[in-house]
Amino acid sequence: MILPGLIDPHVHLREPGATHKEDWDSGTAAALAGGFTALLAMPNTQPAVTDAETLAVALTAARKKARCDYAQYLGAGADNIATLPGLASAAAGLKMYLDQTYGPLRLDDMTVWMEHFARWPRHLPIVAHAEGRTLAAVILLAALYDRSLHIAHVSRREEILLIRRAKERGLKVTCEVAPHHLFLTSEDIPTLGAGRSEVRPRLATPGDCAALWENLEVIDCFATDHAPHTLQEKDSSNPPPGFPGLETALPLLLTAVKENRLTLEDLILRMYTNPQRIFALPSQPDTWIEVDEEATWEICAAEMHTRSAWTPFEGWKVRGRVRRVVLRGQEAYRDGQVLAPPGYGKNLRMI
Ligand code: NCD
Ligand code: ZN
Ligand code: ZN
Repeated sequence: MILPGLIDPHVHLREPGATHKEDWDSGTAAALAGGFTALLAMPNTQPAVTDAETLAVALTAARKKARCDYAQYLGAGADNIATLPGLASAAAGLKMYLDQTYGPLRLDDMTVWMEHFARWPRHLPIVAHAEGRTLAAVILLAALYDRSLHIAHVSRREEILLIRRAKERGLKVTCEVAPHHLFLTSEDIPTLGAGRSEVRPRLATPGDCAALWENLEVIDCFATDHAPHTLQEKDSSNPPPGFPGLETALPLLLTAVKENRLTLEDLILRMYTNPQRIFALPSQPDTWIEVDEEATWEICAAEMHTRSAWTPFEGWKVRGRVRRVVLRGQEAYRDGQVLAPPGYGKNLRMI
């Protein structure tokens, strides 16, 4: 089966600052192994990507090490309101952290949100980590400033229903859901263990999970929120939140296609067509992935390319496996081997 090269609009690559968890090389290798030929990298690195200097640091690492195509987000802060618009066209978009997350970028002051909404160019994406009532507040800003807004990792019934209503009302709101919120719930926490089930937004109730499936037409994108941390960190007394997801998203969703929980068209729309449109990404010529849709296999972290070396889906039986990835005319992945070298990836904002 041939599919388009998938696009993941929500990936944490940890470089600069925490390359023991992941870097531009290992993270983009994981992307190719998972069938993604393009990813958008989040700014909550160390240092965070919030100005020209830190953007240059991230993009220099990317240029040398990325194996798939990419763009880099800028992070909204209290002190970069005036300087960010000048960098906007070089970035994937503006990321605003408005709720509990990993890293120092959280913004609580709504007047700061308002100033970013007023100044960030209207034709370029704003992505918000906003849960529950914070989501209601940031949707109000999208209405007040009459601009588009993309909501990251929606996980709860009240959130998907609020977004449904906002769309019905004509607001320019789009959203993504992560596979772990479609396939795991709070009932899996005892099996996963406390540290390994830590993720933001938290694993939600079975009712929340069911509401995501029931409102599939409201979900614009499936995004992994690939958030690698090592097992040692996850099993520590202060476990950081986040799951790796690049190498499990497609097989989990293809298995759901086999089980008639969604169609292949639903999947392609949310992993290629919609992310390309919402984030205004150029098309990648001569790019596709080849999937063996009948292959049944067990998810196994030891076979993965992510440096985090674990997955909350260890041992899950799935159906559908990426065999080959062709990126801009070159074989980039084949049967477990990543073939695209570091540096092959292109910045999609600079083509
Ligand atoms: C993300 C991370 O580790 O960077 N963690 C998470 O649990 N999702 C941060 C985030 O996406 O908010
Ligand atoms: Zn987040
Ligand atoms: Zn994230």
